[in-house]
Amino acid sequence: MTRAALTARSLRNVKRLHRTLRLVGSSLWLALGMIVCSPTVAAGNETALRVRGPAPLELVRSAAPASWQRQKVDSQGSSWPQTDWAGYNTLTTLATPPGNGAIHLVTPIEGDAAKGRQLAFDRTRGGSCVACHVMGKDTPPQPGNVGPDLSLVGATRSDEWLFNYVYDPRTFNPGSIMPPWGAHRLFNIVEIRDIVAFLKTLKVLHTFGDAQENPDLRTPPKETRDNLDPTENPAMFALDRGKELFVRASAQGKSCASCHAAPESTMKSWAAQMPRYEVRLNKVLGVEEFITRHARATTGAELPMQEADNVALSVYLHHLSNGAVIRPDLSSPGARKAAASGRALMQRKLGQLNMACVDCHTREKHAFKWARGQYLVESRGTIAHFPTWRTSRGDIWDIRKRFQWCNVSVRANDLPPDAREYGDIEMALAEINKGEKISSPGIRH
Ligand code: HEC
Ligand code: HEC
Ligand code: HEC
Repeated sequence: MTRAALTARSLRNVKRLHRTLRLVGSSLWLALGMIVCSPTVAAGNETALRVRGPAPLELVRSAAPASWQRQKVDSQGSSWPQTDWAGYNTLTTLATPPGNGAIHLVTPIEGDAAKGRQLAFDRTRGGSCVACHVMGKDTPPQPGNVGPDLSLVGATRSDEWLFNYVYDPRTFNPGSIMPPWGAHRLFNIVEIRDIVAFLKTLKVLHTFGDAQENPDLRTPPKETRDNLDPTENPAMFALDRGKELFVRASAQGKSCASCHAAPESTMKSWAAQMPRYEVRLNKVLGVEEFITRHARATTGAELPMQEADNVALSVYLHHLSNGAVIRPDLSSPGARKAAASGRALMQRKLGQLNMACVDCHTREKHAFKWARGQYLVESRGTIAHFPTWRTSRGDIWDIRKRFQWCNVSVRANDLPPDAREYGDIEMALAEINKGEKISSPGIRH
């Protein structure tokens, strides 16, 4: 047959298929699309139809590792806290007791200022007050500035006011980012009296010898390492591994490459359009969960989220999209609902420390300030480099592990990586990051 005849025949095929489609309706079309329009055929045979069907997905099982529980250690041994904070809000449950007003104590409060000073600087009790405040001449290194400088607070506030503020700042400021130290049992009443006694000693403005110690003047960190240089970014090894996995045959003899012959051309912006709302799951699907479900349905390989092979394939698929502009598809009602849910979840106070994503990651609240020696970044600019190498953890984190850590770091129970709520937040963040260019794998502190 000549090329023209071939084209004519495939046109007739398209017309015939369209007639059939009108007859059989859309649900059957979905099934047909998967069989008729598989990319194997498209790659190997010019006459085939190039209609894209939906990607096959396994829809029933969890995409998290079997019997998921919180990460214990990162690959190089940095541990994760294992406390169960079931009494406080998570992204799935509302459990935090409401702020119930202050306990009014008889003044003056007799406390032990030396003990109070020790407690205020104790990093194991929710991060220490110095995580957010400058506190006079004894201020330990690298204080934060999320809260006001307290160096003069002993001269300006009464004992009772201080006690009540530290016990539960919500009494005075319902949206406070400061943890309710007493109401959430981070310190008991005797300890808070001691802390107040210490606060009462703070009466002299603190001056910094070294500008870098002053959180208002300290230089923000700037990532300057070349993320695509394997000598700088160990995540580049995962890229090699991801490429190998793409062509490696599964026990069923199939690899990703069996159906996708040229990912460098066909997938060069795919990850930039993720996550997406997946109607068959009625939830948002990110790259990593897609890998698990699509592999089960095609190659038969078991690639649970956050295990090394899944992360490696995610690095590869993101890397293929480098330079592509993030543009989530918000055209469906499902996608818009998910993004709205994500935005609402980012406002929710979480954990024993009672902090919301927006408290740390928006300029209206405390972004661009220092907390616990870390510089708080705004949500825009935070997702294009995932999955990302974390030097301080010696591990590659996908975006969901970052969410899990930001949960655990405010003493909130984290969720399995395939949780609907993380999908909603990922969608909301993709919307906030629209127009940013994928640059993956990233590298961060
Ligand atoms: C996560 C950051 C954070 C931590 C940690 C923190 N604070 Fe605060 N604190 C704040 C912020 C922000 C304010 C400003 C008012 C507000 O938002 O409630 C504040 C206000 C205060 C005030 C009121 C100051 C004034 O005169 O208005 C006191 C007192 C105080 N904090 C004491 C403490 C003590 C004591 C600790 C440690 C037990 C502590 N803070 C830990 C964030 C923090
Ligand atoms: C048996 C054939 C087959 C195999 C094997 C296969 N895929 Fe697919 N893949 C498909 C089909 C069919 C689609 C949907 C049509 C399209 O997008 O081209 C698809 C779509 C995709 C897409 C675009 C998805 C979307 O809809 O959002 C990506 C990315 C992808 N596959 C990656 C992979 C990876 C990674 C592997 C290996 C784990 C793999 N595929 C294995 C058949 C296969
Ligand atoms: C107590 C403050 C705090 C809260 C609350 C918080 N984060 Fe974070 N977050 C951080 C810090 C600190 C970092 C590390 C910043 C860096 O990499 O320099 C971070 C990093 C991130 C990053 C990656 C930034 C990057 O460029 O690598 C994302 C995404 C993120 N957080 C999302 C969230 C989400 C979603 C929530 C709510 C579930 C949340 N965070 C709650 C402090 C917080």
